[in-house]
Amino acid sequence: MITGLSHVSIAVPSLAAAAKRLKAVYGLDVGAASVNDEQGVRLAYVDLPNARIELMEPARPDSPIAKFLEKNPGGGIHHFCLNVDDVSAVSAGIASKGARVLGDGKEGRNVHGERIAFVHPKDFLGALVELEEKKRDG
Ligand code: CO
Repeated sequence: MITGLSHVSIAVPSLAAAAKRLKAVYGLDVGAASVNDEQGVRLAYVDLPNARIELMEPARPDSPIAKFLEKNPGGGIHHFCLNVDDVSAVSAGIASKGARVLGDGKEGRNVHGERIAFVHPKDFLGALVELEEKKRDG
């Protein structure tokens, strides 16, 4: 079951520059960065009362985010993320209705240790969607 919106993720050429701009213009605080080695990205978050903004900077040249930035040099929305109560159950449920779960339906883990999966953009109205397992009160 889908339980909420976790975050909207923006690919940026520079986390430091993005954080500076969000603070200067919008008064938003960007938290400390962490690295996801598997995906080759450096991540930082803005915590809002009901969701987060995720900022992603490539951590190495062959990162998928580096490829995204080649096409969108100024950065841009890369994906959004829905919370689900059970990644395996939701993945299996949507796959049974023809949606492609990337990575053979094998869930990964994000930098916070939560179980995640990605849905093919063509199977969600053109948007790349991440599913993140989180209990409603978690
Ligand atoms: Co994300």
